[in-house]
Amino acid sequence: MTDLNKMTDWSKLKEMVAGSELGSKSRTVDEKLLLEHLQSRVKGQDHIVTDVARLIRLSWEKQERTRPICSLLLLGPTGTGKTELAKAMAEYLFGSEKDMLRFDCSELSSPDMAKSRLTGSSAGFKDSESGGQLTRPMMANPRRLVLFDEVEKAHPLVFDLLLQLLGDGRLTEQSTGRTADFTQSIVVLTSNAIADQVAKAVEGMDDYREMLNAIKTLLSESGTFRPEIMGRIDKVYLFKPLEGMIVAEIALLKIARLAREYGMTVDFVAPELLLQALEANLKVSRFGIRELERILFDFFAEQLVAMREKKVTHVSFRRGDDGKIVCEPSAGKPGR
Ligand SMILES: Nc1ncnc2c1ncn2[C@@H]1O[C@H](COP(=O)(O)OP(=O)(O)OP(=O)(O)O)[C@@H](O)[C@H]1O
Ligand SMILES: [Mg+2]
Repeated sequence: MTDLNKMTDWSKLKEMVAGSELGSKSRTVDEKLLLEHLQSRVKGQDHIVTDVARLIRLSWEKQERTRPICSLLLLGPTGTGKTELAKAMAEYLFGSEKDMLRFDCSELSSPDMAKSRLTGSSAGFKDSESGGQLTRPMMANPRRLVLFDEVEKAHPLVFDLLLQLLGDGRLTEQSTGRTADFTQSIVVLTSNAIADQVAKAVEGMDDYREMLNAIKTLLSESGTFRPEIMGRIDKVYLFKPLEGMIVAEIALLKIARLAREYGMTVDFVAPELLLQALEANLKVSRFGIRELERILFDFFAEQLVAMREKKVTHVSFRRGDDGKIVCEPSAGKPGR
């Protein structure tokens, strides 16, 4: 009998398969690196980020999947990092957040819109051959993160499609009969529906199962989500409102990003200035940090541009004696 063991160099082949397209389905995820990446973008939600990194490592390794890699429901107040987490996951796991497919479910509140957007118009209708904006990109590249924002606003038909997608890992365009595969995707649903009620219901609980049960009961009883949907979701996470120091950290991230957009580096921002920006933010946005980016732009963009015109690349910001913002070239050493 032929000895397959000797017919090729198996260890070398194994290595080669792992490094090729063939091996991509079973490639492992480095939990530590993933976690570091998620933590660099999502602040103040450590318990969630840690659990997500672990969950992804464990589900990524499954060889045979009939469902998405994982499906998450992210709950919590507006501006607490739900969409940011989805983007960070997409960036690390699939190479770019731009390939993330995002649907705003408030635009899917009628059955016609839901169907034509997701799986394409019915046969005979205009555009029925061009398929859905969910199914077609998935057929072209099934390795993606799919995000449904404000999922509670979706028409029940969307939930029917979600049930199929989450349950069978596939979705068929009725008009063309073509099927999109979701077994290599991650599905994220977000909602800030009844965030306050959910937060109250789980107050003081520290056991995850107990908390999850309370959330599931509340969401089902309030009619927000059908129990079948809840049953198909792998994990539910509740995002916390952000505390002041966390918002400060996010502000620094945003200042660094703004500077990067001008090709510049900010080495230091005086705490007085940060406090001033945070107070300005608090005044205009009672709910978190929606306005923070605009405020930081108003504070810092003008001076960054002026410095860039002088060919300065590294700057520091401090508050002058007259209370105005002073921007100075810095030696390029962070945290002076
Ligand atoms: N925990 C966080 N860590 C880092 N940045 C955050 C965090 N929360 C919010 N942000 C910043 O605020 C902006 C809005 O956050 P995000 O879009 O994630 O909010 P959301 O929770 O999805 O809110 P909504 O329910 O309104 O969609 C993002 O651009 C992000 O930069
Ligand atoms: Mg969001």
